[in-house]
This record gives sequence, structure tokens and C-alpha cells, in this order.
Amino acid sequence: MGKGGDGLKAPRGTRDFYPEDMRRRNWLFDQFRRSAHAFGFEEVDAPMVEHLDLFRRKAGEEIVDQLYHFTLHDRELALRAEMTPSIARMVIARQGAMRFPIRWFTVTQNWRYERMTRGRRREHFQWNMDIWGEPGVEAEAELLSAMFHALDGLGLARGKVGVRLNSRALLEESLRTGVLADRPDVFEPLCVVIDKIDKIGAQAVTEQLCDPDGKVGLSAGEAETVIEMLSARSLDDAARFTAEGSGAIADLRKLYDLLDAYGIADHVPFDASVVRGLAYYTGVVFEAFDTAGELRAIAGGGRYDRLAETLGGKPVPAVGFGFGDAVIAELLADEGLWPDLERDVQDVVYAFGPEEKPAAIGVASRLRRDGRRVELCLGKAKLKRVLGDADKVGADRVFLIGEDERTRGVVKVRDLAAKEETEEPL
Ligand code: HAM
Repeated sequence: MGKGGDGLKAPRGTRDFYPEDMRRRNWLFDQFRRSAHAFGFEEVDAPMVEHLDLFRRKAGEEIVDQLYHFTLHDRELALRAEMTPSIARMVIARQGAMRFPIRWFTVTQNWRYERMTRGRRREHFQWNMDIWGEPGVEAEAELLSAMFHALDGLGLARGKVGVRLNSRALLEESLRTGVLADRPDVFEPLCVVIDKIDKIGAQAVTEQLCDPDGKVGLSAGEAETVIEMLSARSLDDAARFTAEGSGAIADLRKLYDLLDAYGIADHVPFDASVVRGLAYYTGVVFEAFDTAGELRAIAGGGRYDRLAETLGGKPVPAVGFGFGDAVIAELLADEGLWPDLERDVQDVVYAFGPEEKPAAIGVASRLRRDGRRVELCLGKAKLKRVLGDADKVGADRVFLIGEDERTRGVVKVRDLAAKEETEEPL
């Protein structure tokens, strides 16, 4: 056993899913799938192991340093850290043959070697919804509405979760005549640095933005504008930093009109400090959070119109979000919203002795063919215990076959709810 190795425990930051955990996980994923289907999205999947290069980027993102990667037969591979690059790869591979816009969703496991905190683990599941081929903010509005559809479905009262929203295009516009005029490539690392402001503070961010040997190299004046911009909490306030007729502001106003039509605008505050830590976002970005402010982000997403090109495809606009399973699980627990989920057995079939086993198998097989969920008692189970367990799992009926029933060619059917017993022919 290597470092920290306790061979009987799952590796730190990963989880075993026992039946009771699996029931919750499936329930949660069902809600995700239900919401995605309600919006006409189709489910896709991709391998958990990808070429390392798909994830390796030069913008200094945390996610790149957190990759689980390995070399096998001279191939450099990595466990998926997020779904978006795989989705992009899939879209590019069929780009000429596809009819856009496409609406895809996934529910997949991702791996990141993270520092562990509440709701942050080294393995997590994410529900992703992405729209490819739609440049307008109607796509953003539809996605945000799907997110609230899921939150409603999980039983969270409106107001428990909010979505802070901003646009990277605003920042880009305000710097277009400055540093970005001759170095457009600094925009990605710039956003990655700004994203750290909550963690390291404005002073440290300014230092990194202005560091002549760093990836960004803003002037002190530019850095000051950037930091000041981040404090805007309304579109009017943010508009002060851009030129008259700003496209980004016009887009945001349009988006808020749409969110109003969906009835969710009040839960999506504008917040210029949201830039997100992934380099590929180009436009609107957003992050869902618990309004009590106790947990880390529940979900995050945004527009990434240049990712296809970056990965070698033709340009195609895209926007989407990832919604993790871990933070929402904490919130559902805090709010007492996890439903009671029991084992789901409908019928239990019990044979009193070895002579009755073939008849019991016959009964169980018939019920299973009819689509019932059937537990056939194995070995020498005690009747009292079988009946108690059947009651506990909420079974509808127990089928009993003893010597008497076998010789008469019948099976006793005990209806647990009605507390009635009848007989059926075998
Ligand atoms: P992300 O912000 O890295 O974005 O992750 C999205 C969500 O996944 C987070 O808000 C959080 O709920 C969950 N999550 C991320 N890392 C962890 C972790 N270590 N433990 C538990 N939960 C975690 C993305 O991954 C983008 N690819 C999302 C996206 C899709 N953007 C466009 N389309």
C-alpha cells in the first residue's frame, strides 16, 4: 500500500455508493434527466478516459494542474475533469453533418485532484446541459430556466438558490482599446487571474495582472479599471465602463427581458465579479449559489464561442452549464429535502421447503415476465423475518408455497396492505 493507503477505504475524496446512497443518487439524476427532457435535450456520453491534450491548456487554470493523468503504452491519457472538452470533440467530429442548434445533456463522473472542502471532492458527478449553434442569448435564458426547473423539481423553494450572472464580453470590450488591442491572447489568463479575487484579494490580483513577467501584463491604470468594474451590481453601473452602444450591455439587457418572461429574473442578480475560472468562456457567465451563502457553487456555466476553433474545429457558438451532485446534496440535507427512498420490491416469493422451490421459481418467473420487481427468498429464510422485511421494503404481496399448497397446485397470496389472503393456481 502506498501513501495514505488503507486498502479497505475508497481513496481520499472518492465515494463508495451503497444501496441507500445509490437510491439517492438515482433519484437526483432522475430529476436532472427529467428537466433536460422537459427542455427537449438529448443525452450523450463519452469515455471517462481522454487524450491528455484535450484538457491541457495554457491559461494557468487550476483544472489543468488537478488532472488525474497517466502514460500507458506511450499514450498520454487523463481521466475526464469536466465534460465540455469531450462534448466539443464530439461536435467537431460531426460538425459538417449536424443540424444546429443541438441540445445535449450528460450526467457523468469527473475527476479532479482537489483540495477537499465541504461539497468539493476528487470525484464528482455533473449534470451538463449545452446548446451548440445558437449565438443569441435566448440559449442562455433557456439554460437558466432549465436549471430552475431542476431546482423546483428537487423541492427547493424559490429564493433558496440564486444565480449570479455577468458577461466576460463586458470586460473584453472595456480593454479592447487597451492591452487587448495588440495582445488579444491575454484575455483568457486575465479572467483566470480575476476569478481568484475572492480567495486572494484585490491587491494580489492587481499584482498578478500587472506583473511584467506574468501572462497578462496590464498597465496599472487598466488593472484599476478592471478591479473597479468588478464591483458593479447593476447593468447601469456596469455600462459606465463601456462605450456608448456596447454590444455586451445590449445582450445582457435582452437576456434579462427573456429571464423576466421565464419568471426567473429576480433570482438572477447581475454581479460583475463573476468571471469563472475556466479559460474558454467568452460571453455570459453565471454561477448558482445558495442564498444563505454557506456552500460553494452549486452550478456554473457560460458561453464559450471559441472552444471549437481552439480544438481545431470550425467556429460554432456554444453555451452550457455544469451542475454538480455534491453541493446540491449538502443543500438538500440542510433543507431536509431528501425523500425517504426504500428498496423497491413489489412481490416476495417464499417456499417453505426444498420441495416447493421449483414451484416458487415458477411463480417468481411469471411475475417477473409481467414486469413486477420480485424477490425470491433464498436458502432457509425464516418466514417471520421474510414477512417483517417485506413489510419494511413496502412490498405489496408475499407469495407463500408450502407442502399443502404444492399438492393442491396453488399459491397463497398475502396482500400486505389489505391484510388479506387469497389463493391463486400455480
Ligand atoms: P465548473 O464550475 O468547473 O464548470 O463545475 C461546474 C459545477 O460542478 C460546480 O459548480 C460544482 O457544482 C461542480 N464541481 C466542480 N468541481 C467539483 C468538485 N471537485 N467536487 C464537487 N463538485 C464539483 C465546468 O466544469 C464546466 N465544464 C461547466 C460547463 C458546461 N460550462 C459550459 N458547459
